[in-house]
Order: sequence, then C-alpha cells, then structure tokens
Amino acid sequence: MALILGIESTCDETAAAVVENGRAVRSSVIASQVDLHQVYRGVVPEIASRAHIENILPVIEQALKNSARTFEQIDAIAIAQRPGLIGSLLIGVTAAKALAWSLEKPLIGVDHVQAHLYSVQLESRPTNREPRFPAVGLVCSGGHTALYAVRSWTDIELIGQTIDDAVGEAYDKVAAILNLPYPGGRPIDELAAQGDPKAIRFPRSTLDPDSLDFSFSGLKTAVLYRVRGHKGRERDASSLSQQELRDVCAGFQQACIDVLLLKIRRAIARVDAKSVIVGGGVSANRGLRAAMQSFELPTFFPPIEYCTDNAAMIAGLGDVLLSHGVTADLSMDAIIRSALVKR
Ligand code: KG4
Ligand code: ZN
Repeated sequence: MALILGIESTCDETAAAVVENGRAVRSSVIASQVDLHQVYRGVVPEIASRAHIENILPVIEQALKNSARTFEQIDAIAIAQRPGLIGSLLIGVTAAKALAWSLEKPLIGVDHVQAHLYSVQLESRPTNREPRFPAVGLVCSGGHTALYAVRSWTDIELIGQTIDDAVGEAYDKVAAILNLPYPGGRPIDELAAQGDPKAIRFPRSTLDPDSLDFSFSGLKTAVLYRVRGHKGRERDASSLSQQELRDVCAGFQQACIDVLLLKIRRAIARVDAKSVIVGGGVSANRGLRAAMQSFELPTFFPPIEYCTDNAAMIAGLGDVLLSHGVTADLSMDAIIRSALVKR
C-alpha cells in the first residue's frame, strides 16, 4: 500500500492530491485559473505559467494538510510530466523534483492523458467491477480527443485523434458564438437537457468509413452560420429565443455524442474490446453519460470531480507505475507531447 503525492500543472489548473493504494483519494486540491483566462476565452500560456508559480506551493501544502498526512509518510512524488504547455509543465516538474530530492523520495513521471484514462479507477474499490482489457479508451477534453487501445494501465496505444478541434474546444467555441460563459461545456450541457436534439440537425463528420479520427471544426462552423446567418454576421445569438438557444445546444450536443459513439464502436471492432473507458473534461457531460448507459459493452466513467484536470489521477497512476518500478531521476524533462502514440 503506497501513499502518493500527485502534482498537476500541465495547462491551467494547479493541483495536488494524496492518494492511497492507487484509488483512495485522501485529498484533492485544485486552484483553477478560469477567472484569469475567461476574458480571452482560452488559456493564455504566459498567464498560466505565472499563476502556477503563485499557486504551486500553497496547493501542495493544502493537499498534505487536507489528507492529514505528513511529508514523511508519503512514499513517492508523482508529477504530470507531459503533455501540456511547456511553461506550465516546468513549474510542476521543478517543484516535484525539489520535493523528491529534499525528502529523498522516489520521483515518478506521469503522462496526463494516460492519467485521464486511469481516473475511472479513483474511489472504486478493487472488488467493484473492473474494466476488462483490451478496452477502448476515449479521452475527450479541451485539449484532446483521442481513442486508445488500452491493453493494461501501462500498455496503451493511440489509434485515432482529432485532425482539428478537440471536442471540448468545440464546446468552448460554440459557447462563445452563443454568448455563454467560458468554459462552455457545462452551460451547453445544461441548456441541451432542456432542448429538442432533433429540432436542428447539424452535420456529423465521420471522415473515411473506417477512420478512427475526429473532426469537429465543420460542426462548429455550421453552428456559427445557423446562429449568425449565411455570411456569418447577419445576426447574433441575442436574436435567438430561449427555446431556439436550447435547441441549438441540444442539436450541437447530439451531433458530438453521435460522432463519439460511432467512433467508439469502430474502435471496439478494431481492437476486439471487452469494455470502454471514457475520461477528460467532456466525460462529465450528462448527455454522453446517458447515451452510454445502455451501451453494449461495460463502460467506465470517472467520478464527476475527477473528469476535468486534477492531481488525484496523477497520483493514482503514479502508484501503478511505482509498483512496476517505473521511477525517474532528477534529469526528468517536461515534454510537450504525450507518450501515447500510434505504433
Ligand atoms: O480535462 P479538462 O479539464 O482539460 C483538458 O485537459 O483540456 O477539460 C476541459 C474541457 C473544457 O473544454 C470544458 O468545456 C469541457 O472540458 N467540459 C465539458 C463539460 N464539463 C467540462 N464538456 C461537455 N460537457 C460538460 N459537462
Ligand atoms: Zn486534461
């Protein structure tokens, strides 16, 4: 039984968590920077790095305090080393190295995307139903929309990815078109629940018949033209009635869900999967969760609080890696790209 301190700073959340035995979350602290990036409707890398510097030590201290554990009791430090914004990554990596060195504890480098998949294990007891491998993994967030063949928690192959926008990014951009708050996933999800998904049919981009890749930019543009008229500037969202706004959200969300489900099914056939794992910010989506409730294979979602970026998933996967003897030394780099690639 290991006690792992996880640290996450890949994008715009500074987070630290203490996790026991890879599953039991003893504390999870997240300093969100949403307020800082809201006016730009996207993450500004320089602002993110500076906020991480201010937040990282208080967040780590708070996570330790909330867990009622001491630094001495921690067995290892796990850090989200990749993928992400380089300036953001460097703050967390440097803090983790300093801690590991001064406390003389092992250091573990974790891939953030792999941790989004692992997040389905958090808070579940080993006796709960477990994903059977090979599984199809879908990571859908603001930065990533990709499919994976998950053969074990440490053997994961990229099999498809977006060729333009990530699905969460499409939510955020559609929210901008609709004058809704940033980030847009949750407000659109809530309005969609009150709208008619069949009232407006937006295009579904499925690419080639056997493709496992995604494209969401055409869908986003279709929403833009629907709302603003054909030249893209004849009207704006303020001319929509409340019911039209709900129907646009429901139609957009249904198009996203249909594409995600179609690609998951294609991936299942490709890898002969026995279960499906979904992680990342968009896995919090109520419509997506509802659509997968009656799915033909067992499906696994994270607890809602571990869908968006957090450090509990980093600590949890760190425990698995530690048990496989996968540790790093102080020469560990921050890396922009994920380690999960096509083979
Ligand atoms: O995983 P995450 O925190 O960050 C990345 O790794 O990118 O995901 C953030 C994304 C945002 O684009 C946000 O709009 C989206 O997740 N999101 C949602 C929902 N909650 C958050 N998208 C759809 N439905 C939701 N309920
Ligand atoms: Zn993420």
